[in-house]
Amino acid sequence: MKLLSLCLGLTLVWAHVEGHHEVVTSNFDLSKISGYWYTIFLASDEMERIEENGGFRIFLKHIQPLDNSSMLLKYHKKVNGQCTEFSIVVDYTEQDGVHSAIYDGYNRYRIIESVYGEYVICHTVNFKNEKITQMMELFGRERDLNQKIKTRFEEICQEYGIPKENILDLTKVGKCSSLCFFLPKFSCY
Ligand SMILES: *[C@@H]1O[C@H](CO)[C@@H](O)[C@H](O)[C@H]1NC(C)=O
Repeated sequence: MKLLSLCLGLTLVWAHVEGHHEVVTSNFDLSKISGYWYTIFLASDEMERIEENGGFRIFLKHIQPLDNSSMLLKYHKKVNGQCTEFSIVVDYTEQDGVHSAIYDGYNRYRIIESVYGEYVICHTVNFKNEKITQMMELFGRERDLNQKIKTRFEEICQEYGIPKENILDLTKVGKCSSLCFFLPKFSCY
């Protein structure tokens, strides 16, 4: 009996670990996407939007689902060399998994895939001044991610017509660090 319950216990633990590493590509559970994130890769078909001083050179920090199916996204951004925090409320749309928000134009966000405890890949389409720009984001629960996930991200970018050279590795460039969160006046390099 003891052995049986031990086995059962192990199976449950295993099932839990398995579930944690499952790649989800639809019917996302937003409550599992909530929490703290780091922006690992940022890509676009219009580089000036994500380069220094670009409107989309923003670093996701936290996702909080709201009661009405909207989500509150907290970001860091460098303004005049200083780290500032700001939020965007993204609203649910009828289209499965698509959210929208007004930020530097009108945006539609779609989560492409996620392992909730590890990473999220998100596709953003921005409409501004009759111009359409796409952005692809890779967020990680840790400050960096393994090569397998990064390669997967590159493949997805390619599928969307964003070439590899348009992917910025934000783990290597100066960015708003977690210090900025604790010391809002801390000047980020
Ligand atoms: C959901 O609630 C937030 C915060 O109260 C609000 O900003 C947002 O507009 C709401 N979304 C919708 C679709 O009503």
